[in-house]
Amino acid sequence: MSQKQDQWTSKLGFILAAAGSAIGLGAIWKLPYVAGTSGGGAFFLIFLLFTIFLGLPLLLTEFTIGRKTQHEAITAYRMLAPGTFWHWIGKLGVATSFILLSFYSVVGGWIVIYLTRAITEGLAGREGTEFEQLFGQTISNPFLAVFAHLIFMVLTILVVRGGVQKGIERFSKIMMPALFILFLIIVIRSVTLPGAMEGVEFFLMPDFSSVTGETILFALGQAFFSLSLGVSIMVTYSSYLKSSESLPRSAVSIVGLTIFISILAGLAIFPAVFSFGLEPAEGPPLIFIVLPTVFSAIPFGSVFFVAFMALLLFATLTSAFSLLEMVVASVTKNDPTKRNKAAWTIGLLIFVMGIPSALSYGVMGDVLIFGNNFFDALDFLVSNIMLPLGALLIAIFAPLKIKKDELYEEIQKSSSIKRGLFNTWYILVKYVTPVAIIIAFLNVLGII
Ligand code: PFF
Repeated sequence: MSQKQDQWTSKLGFILAAAGSAIGLGAIWKLPYVAGTSGGGAFFLIFLLFTIFLGLPLLLTEFTIGRKTQHEAITAYRMLAPGTFWHWIGKLGVATSFILLSFYSVVGGWIVIYLTRAITEGLAGREGTEFEQLFGQTISNPFLAVFAHLIFMVLTILVVRGGVQKGIERFSKIMMPALFILFLIIVIRSVTLPGAMEGVEFFLMPDFSSVTGETILFALGQAFFSLSLGVSIMVTYSSYLKSSESLPRSAVSIVGLTIFISILAGLAIFPAVFSFGLEPAEGPPLIFIVLPTVFSAIPFGSVFFVAFMALLLFATLTSAFSLLEMVVASVTKNDPTKRNKAAWTIGLLIFVMGIPSALSYGVMGDVLIFGNNFFDALDFLVSNIMLPLGALLIAIFAPLKIKKDELYEEIQKSSSIKRGLFNTWYILVKYVTPVAIIIAFLNVLGII
């Protein structure tokens, strides 16, 4: 059995770290570009529904499993279902984290490049569509893209090797509130640009004529991606948690924060897209083209641009920590003597795995897997297959392997959740979530 667990030093520490895992590129980079390619408002509405009715209950489920067992994910599943194959949910989570971080870190690298450029050149008097070309030139340089990806991975490794509380907690406390404030400034500028309302409508007014089976699966994948669900990361994080924490309250805060920042991101990006005549369906580069454009229209834009890129880098790092932590915790079983070596070895392996993704918008742009470049193919595999699959298994596992009364007892510790609300949660996890995920899969496969 594993060593005594590291614990969070404060309630705020846990919430900020779990929220730090949740809030990252998912809400800020991925949501706008997937909404941009998949129908705008309708996508966003479906995403919101999935986040509230599937994501929130599932987050509480992962928290419950983690705190009940006080062990990282694989051990947690083993303890609850000894001698069965269920611990493979944890292994799937480890594999998912590994692959996810390999391309996540590439985007982290783009942020490193933009931050450096923001500091050295500011916005250099550029405007509008010039940023589109700039992005193309920047990430198509193979050395730069790979080097920046390496820097991002090394930053992640340096924090994770230090252990849970010291590393992760300290950063999250200062950075997240600052990110919110800066985002508000961008939103205010963006929605007051000429012609901005068209973008607000695109983002907030659902047009269901564009909804397809894929839109629904993408929205499902996005809901899990932006709450870090289906990977059992929230199991591992809440295993460091004492019983004095209210799990439902933590889950509601995290979902609330994630939704809030998703709305801010949409309101920052789309009004500017329409105002500057850019293309909402730009794909992964979207925010890297739009945000500098907005900043160029703000007094002292270069200064804000530096601050924003720095905060975005931190938001991205706190998610990356959780991904690497998931793999490191499962390999070391929290043996502190193995942590340093494991963090470096695994982190560098992830770096190597990410190299083709780093080259996907440049020299490897022509290498296609099912019509997608390597980066997009991995993103598709993780977001639309592995995360929903992990979520499906967790939703089946918890009600099957933990008695209803035991679940109630764990959730009720330090919270006064009423039986009725608990029952609603139970039904959402046991029936609604699996059925919704299975329908989404079958629908995309053309079976129903
Ligand atoms: N939730 C993170 C984000 O939105 O950027 C990404 C992520 C982290 C997904 C950890 C999954 C995960 F397990």
